[in-house]
Amino acid sequence: MPNREITIAPATGKLGVLIPGIGAVSTTLIAGVEAIKRGLSTPIGSLTQMGRLRLGKRTENRSVAIRDFLPLATLDDLCFGGWDLFPDRVDEAAEKASVLDPALLAQVKPALAEIVPYPAVFDPEFVTRLQGTHVKTGATKRELAEALRQDIRDFRARHGCERLVMIWCASTERFVASGECHQTLEAFERGLEENDPLIAPSQIYAYAALQEGVPFANGSPNRCVEIPALLALAQERNVPISGSDFKTGQTFMKTVIAPGLKARLLGIAGWYSTNILGNRDGEVLADPGSFKTKEISKLGVLEQILEPERYPELYGDLHHQIQINYYPPRGDNKEGWDNIDIVGWLGYPMQIKINFLCRDSILAAPLVLDLILLMDLAQRSGFSGIQEWLSF
Ligand SMILES: NC(=O)c1ccc[n+]([C@@H]2O[C@H](COP(=O)([O-])OP(=O)(O)OC[C@H]3O[C@@H](n4cnc5c(N)ncnc54)[C@H](O)[C@@H]3O)[C@@H](O)[C@H]2O)c1
Repeated sequence: MPNREITIAPATGKLGVLIPGIGAVSTTLIAGVEAIKRGLSTPIGSLTQMGRLRLGKRTENRSVAIRDFLPLATLDDLCFGGWDLFPDRVDEAAEKASVLDPALLAQVKPALAEIVPYPAVFDPEFVTRLQGTHVKTGATKRELAEALRQDIRDFRARHGCERLVMIWCASTERFVASGECHQTLEAFERGLEENDPLIAPSQIYAYAALQEGVPFANGSPNRCVEIPALLALAQERNVPISGSDFKTGQTFMKTVIAPGLKARLLGIAGWYSTNILGNRDGEVLADPGSFKTKEISKLGVLEQILEPERYPELYGDLHHQIQINYYPPRGDNKEGWDNIDIVGWLGYPMQIKINFLCRDSILAAPLVLDLILLMDLAQRSGFSGIQEWLSF
């Protein structure tokens, strides 16, 4: 965090959590929070719920739970809502996602059944594999943005929320090149008025959130809030923004293994990753446009960690290859394989093989929870724009 005097407003009242995309990740989060609140389960994987901070010197052997140290909203303060192009309530969507055990879902069903998504702002040009009826209509993208802003105000009033956070948990949109409409807020607003085809639904949600003073986090890899127009709006409205994909499978492994190899100054000649995934996210990613978005974000992660320009002998010639295969029988239970060709002392080659049998949404849900609570903390601390301290 920036080294300056920070005054943090207290976390009083309800924190509304608005989620575009009532699918596997978001229903796993909401059902999980309800289960944890009732003492039925444990928030494993969540930094805010289980992490600890060291106090003083290492030798003093003092530490404190993060949630006791930071003035975070509690799970009891959270109030969920969202949008989807399918009208299913959260309990129905959770059943369809088939991530959680039906016996656990049954115990939290009444709470989940209260949450009905608002109709989505959706454009099949951006997610070609889905078609839904629960969508907003409007003559222009500006009208759609206004309708979202109205939903946000309606949700805030209906549930008596003190503060709100929006986190995008909807499908990965196809890759879209940067256009003139993304460059300035003025051009973006003109684009909304003129239905510019380069403005994605996720950007309309982000625009609506920021205009309403609501922090916005993006859980998918598509280009969303990180465009100059929305960065400028976040600064102007003094609102924090963050995120680019949840790191759960291949990318999670890369962010764990690559720093270790780099710390030992071991070279990497190649990194080949492939996986099978059978949930709706996998189906969406079977579209080449959506996969391209994911591929770009996944390819970037090794470069950021390894800095090949600084270590050309170690990483300058790294061959990095990624595949995602839609394979319905596995559902949300992803299986990933990594082959890493590493290089040691005097150039001798070695290999690492990883076979990761993971559960996509089980790994993503605690990250969403942490982002919600920390984005709210950021706003109460007066932070705005990209929250780099959240890129841990
Ligand atoms: N599952 C994971 O662990 C994981 C990991 C990393 C990233 N992600 C990303 O998180 C996002 C959600 O993943 P998921 O597994 O929950 O997918 P999912 O397909 O189960 O859920 C996404 C939901 O978004 C809805 N949707 C699509 N476009 C929308 C729009 N414009 N407005 C409102 N709703 C819309 C879909 O109808 C669907 O219900 C995806 O972008 C995915 O790539 C997921």
